[in-house]
Amino acid sequence: MARLFDLSILITSNLRDRVLSVLVALLGLLGLCYGESVMEYGAVGDGIADDTSAFQKAWDDTCKGRSNMGSVYVPAGKTFLLNSLHFTGPCNPKPIIFIIDGDMIAESDTKKWQKDENEIIPWLIFDHVEGLVIAGRGLLDGQGKAWWDIHCRDHPGPMMTFSNCGNVTLKSLRLRNSAQTHVLIMGSQNVYINDIKITSPEASPNTDGVHITSSSAVSITHSDIATGDDCVSVGDQVNNVNVTFVNCGPGHGVSIGSLGRGGTEVAVENIRVWHVNFTRTTNGARIKTWPGATGHVRGIEFFDIHFSSVQNPIIIDQFYGCTTPKCTHTRKAVHIEKVRYMKMSGTSATKVAVKLECSEKSVSCSNIFMRDIDLSPANGIDSVSSLCNFVQGLAQGIIRPSSCL
Ligand SMILES: *[C@@H]1O[C@H](CO)[C@@H](O)[C@H](O)[C@H]1NC(C)=O
Ligand SMILES: *[C@@H]1O[C@H](CO)[C@@H](O)[C@H](O)[C@H]1NC(C)=O
Ligand SMILES: *[C@@H]1O[C@H](CO)[C@@H](O)[C@H](O)[C@H]1NC(C)=O
Repeated sequence: MARLFDLSILITSNLRDRVLSVLVALLGLLGLCYGESVMEYGAVGDGIADDTSAFQKAWDDTCKGRSNMGSVYVPAGKTFLLNSLHFTGPCNPKPIIFIIDGDMIAESDTKKWQKDENEIIPWLIFDHVEGLVIAGRGLLDGQGKAWWDIHCRDHPGPMMTFSNCGNVTLKSLRLRNSAQTHVLIMGSQNVYINDIKITSPEASPNTDGVHITSSSAVSITHSDIATGDDCVSVGDQVNNVNVTFVNCGPGHGVSIGSLGRGGTEVAVENIRVWHVNFTRTTNGARIKTWPGATGHVRGIEFFDIHFSSVQNPIIIDQFYGCTTPKCTHTRKAVHIEKVRYMKMSGTSATKVAVKLECSEKSVSCSNIFMRDIDLSPANGIDSVSSLCNFVQGLAQGIIRPSSCL
């Protein structure tokens, strides 16, 4: 079976998905009989007892296991109350199959949350794991309400963190109400997110759907994300991300950035946002950089995008985080180049539907391409317009509102 999985990594992602589905279904059945079920480690699953140590032991045993493939099984029909968990590698089995058919809820009493030298630690941390499939029909509930009013410095932070991981598949789960970001991907490669649903209230602060930083080869597909912040956001040092067939909204849109906070070096390349619907979001296709940073954002493609009553459907903002007029005069800016906007239509809830605000520095925005953009005013707006500052580029086909390139 391990060989089957390895092979499947090499073939096309669709086929790989199908192979995985079968594999996961099979393991689900096996798990019922003799997998490393959390129940065998003393989990109760009544939503009242704390099942943290049972989950921790199930993972630790699986990770230390001698066979090629390991599994952790969370059975359906139960609710597991959990505090912070460290799913740490490297592990012997590759992959580890983590089937979550039951519901997992985070401890909601902020006073009971685990700390490390007074630092609140995140909920589900996967660290240095190579080869991991997390799938199932379960619901992960961060019970974030208790934290939303508290300063985010004192939060448990993201619901699921993948740090220094490789070859990860996250599939079919529902995630809701994280204290902060729902899924954080950092320092990782080859992460495939497929068919997940993320929901948090529109008014919940900093509840990004998926945040990706210092990583490469990440794909998010066939998923619905509705939160109080970005559906997907991309941080510094990221290469090869695909966001495809995603419904986003409410929320803040899909953001490349904010990048270069504190003057850091930015390298963001090869980001494709294809077949995405934005509904009532406060931004659509957004690139935002802080003044004073260096580096580049290159090879970004927004294609086949639909907007319904979206504020700032198309926006580049090189003055993100600027609070004083002075900060617009910094000498440095991130170079934004080769950005393609194609086949984008729908309604804008702001008068300026296309806003490309680049810094006046010679390095700012170049090679910006638009083709077939058709944006009309949403209810309550009379007309829409475009605004460009220091942008070099080209427009083709239908461009409404008329192009400022
Ligand atoms: C992922 O899997 C591929 C193919 O099995 C392998 O070559 C690679 O080393 C693995 N690790 C990472 C980090 O991609
Ligand atoms: C993203 O899509 C492109 C074009 O289809 C493909 O070449 C690339 O491998 C994909 N990347 C990931 C991480 O799936
Ligand atoms: C986006 O909306 C269109 C029109 O309503 C629909 O046909 C399409 O399936 C939607 N896309 C996704 C990813 O659900």
